[in-house]
Amino acid sequence: MRKSIFPIFLVLLSAIFSHSLQQNQPIKTVVVLMLENRSFDHMLGWMKQSINPSIDGVTGRECNAVTANSTDIICFSDDAEFVDPDPGHSFEDVVQQVFGSASIPSMSGFAEQASTMADNLSQTVMRGFRPENVPIYAELVREFAVFDRWFSSIPGPTQPNRLFAYSATSHGSTSHVKRQLATGYPQQTIFESLREDGLDFGVYFQNIPTTLFYRNLRKLKYASKFHDYDFRFKKDARAGKLPNLCVIEPRYFDIIGYPANDDHPSHDVANGQKLVKEIYETLRGSPQWNQTLFVITYDEHGGFYDHVQTPFIDIPNPDGNTGPAPYFFKFDRLGVRVPTIMVSPWINKGTVISKPKGPANSSEFEHSSIPATLRKIFNLSSHFLTHRDAWAGTFEQVFSEQASPRTDCPEVLPDVSPSKRIQTDENRGLSEFQSEVVQLAAVLNGDHFLSSIPDDLGKKMSVKEAHGYVRGAVSRFLRASREATKLGADESTIVDMRSSLTTRSSSRHG
Ligand SMILES: *[C@@H]1O[C@H](CO)[C@@H](O)[C@H](O)[C@H]1NC(C)=O
Ligand SMILES: *[C@@H]1O[C@H](CO)[C@@H](O)[C@H](O)[C@H]1NC(C)=O
Ligand SMILES: *[C@@H]1O[C@H](CO)[C@@H](O)[C@H](O)[C@H]1NC(C)=O
Ligand SMILES: *[C@@H]1O[C@H](CO)[C@@H](O)[C@H](O)[C@H]1NC(C)=O
Ligand SMILES: *[C@@H]1O[C@H](CO)[C@@H](O)[C@H](O)[C@H]1NC(C)=O
Ligand SMILES: *[C@@H]1O[C@H](CO)[C@@H](O)[C@H](O)[C@H]1NC(C)=O
Repeated sequence: MRKSIFPIFLVLLSAIFSHSLQQNQPIKTVVVLMLENRSFDHMLGWMKQSINPSIDGVTGRECNAVTANSTDIICFSDDAEFVDPDPGHSFEDVVQQVFGSASIPSMSGFAEQASTMADNLSQTVMRGFRPENVPIYAELVREFAVFDRWFSSIPGPTQPNRLFAYSATSHGSTSHVKRQLATGYPQQTIFESLREDGLDFGVYFQNIPTTLFYRNLRKLKYASKFHDYDFRFKKDARAGKLPNLCVIEPRYFDIIGYPANDDHPSHDVANGQKLVKEIYETLRGSPQWNQTLFVITYDEHGGFYDHVQTPFIDIPNPDGNTGPAPYFFKFDRLGVRVPTIMVSPWINKGTVISKPKGPANSSEFEHSSIPATLRKIFNLSSHFLTHRDAWAGTFEQVFSEQASPRTDCPEVLPDVSPSKRIQTDENRGLSEFQSEVVQLAAVLNGDHFLSSIPDDLGKKMSVKEAHGYVRGAVSRFLRASREATKLGADESTIVDMRSSLTTRSSSRHG
């Protein structure tokens, strides 16, 4: 009997403590920007030497053999510029990069994997940016917090990793699955958990909101949550009307006058830097600044080298799903480390955060840490989304160390000059990711019912055509959803557009 008194006392104490933590926690708005396909070492690794020695970055003594066991090695250098072509980052590519010829993640196969794709790509993946070439990150790392142990959720490509960020699972996908895209992914998201407790969210998109890959977000009741970034973000920030969760989606298409700013190779990282600068300065000038946390992260590493071993022990499968043949991936390993920076006046200057303290011994920061932390700081009544967000580290400690918000945060960040010397080519073909986005647009537009679509649609389009098509499809879908709401349709309905060959739209239950 006596033995049990102590544990009960501890449980009570921690309940009281976490209660007061939630009441005192200052953050009411979390702004998330997820960029594309760059590893931690590629973007931030060199900041260890020149900005903060406590960052787990590179020294230049990190090397990979170009072919297994050969003496032809490439060591990590600091001369990254822009990248064309795109290094490999499919599930199979990442297996080779991470394991090399070892049986545990030795991070030794990056150069070799790249050598199978293109001449000199091995050199490319072994390069990182000098801090002066990513001046916005250099300043934010000096002023705020960098997470140097944040991994992508699965060792694979964009879409599954993006899905983890707001639902803590990819519902069994390890690649981009067209059928799932057409129907939309069915799982519960953190957006719905927020709405259930009367909290609000907004998606500020530039070309197309990829958050519409979640089927539930296509419902009428959420149509009013999608906003054109250019028209609304600054306006809402100035008026103090940013919702509790703001998701900012970058421009995925490179158009003259509107360059892509998602950092995806071969897009110029200078444009990603400009986007981060614009968001930062907008938030800094907002009346909501003192209650805002800005999270910048990357979906996956994009094939670029990183030296930190990817975790593979005691990683929980989110929901019982396994990946497709031949790997039948059990979702029991994380992907490669990606850059993550957090900004808030509540964050101490020069903070470096590594491994989380729990909730499990094996817990790490990964994209599911976003819903896990939102659930915690907003005291959401819903259950965890999956086993993965229940396990992922939460990051509320990053803004819990100050008694009041800092008043010395810079109002303006450095200017960014373009690093890329080649001209925008609007007539080039689409990258794999862009054609996936076109397929989503085809679904929204009702064109996927046409037999020739979607397989060929993206292949035939230039970047410029795809951009126009995607914009049209999204605005048509959102407009039809708003009209259906006005006409009194059930709020859980999903608008089913007819192909633009006909002009009518109809709706059915989702
Ligand atoms: C958190 O929510 C629960 C109900 O879900 C409530 O009992 C508790 O008081 C809330 N805590 C805080 C700090 O708001
Ligand atoms: C590389 O060396 C390891 C261990 O010595 C060996 O098992 C493997 O087969 C070698 N790989 C190649 C491609 O030679
Ligand atoms: C590859 O690198 C070599 C040596 O640095 C250089 O001479 C050659 O032009 C490069 N090839 C391409 C296609 O960039
Ligand atoms: C980056 O990720 C997306 C998802 O894999 C992939 O389609 C694309 O080809 C990768 N590189 C990118 C995004 O260009
Ligand atoms: C934020 O808090 C600081 C410190 O209390 C205060 O000086 C400043 O005016 C506040 N800024 C805004 C926008 O409320
Ligand atoms: C966590 O690790 C510590 C030290 O290795 C060990 O003593 C403890 O039992 C572990 N806890 C759990 C829940 O596995």
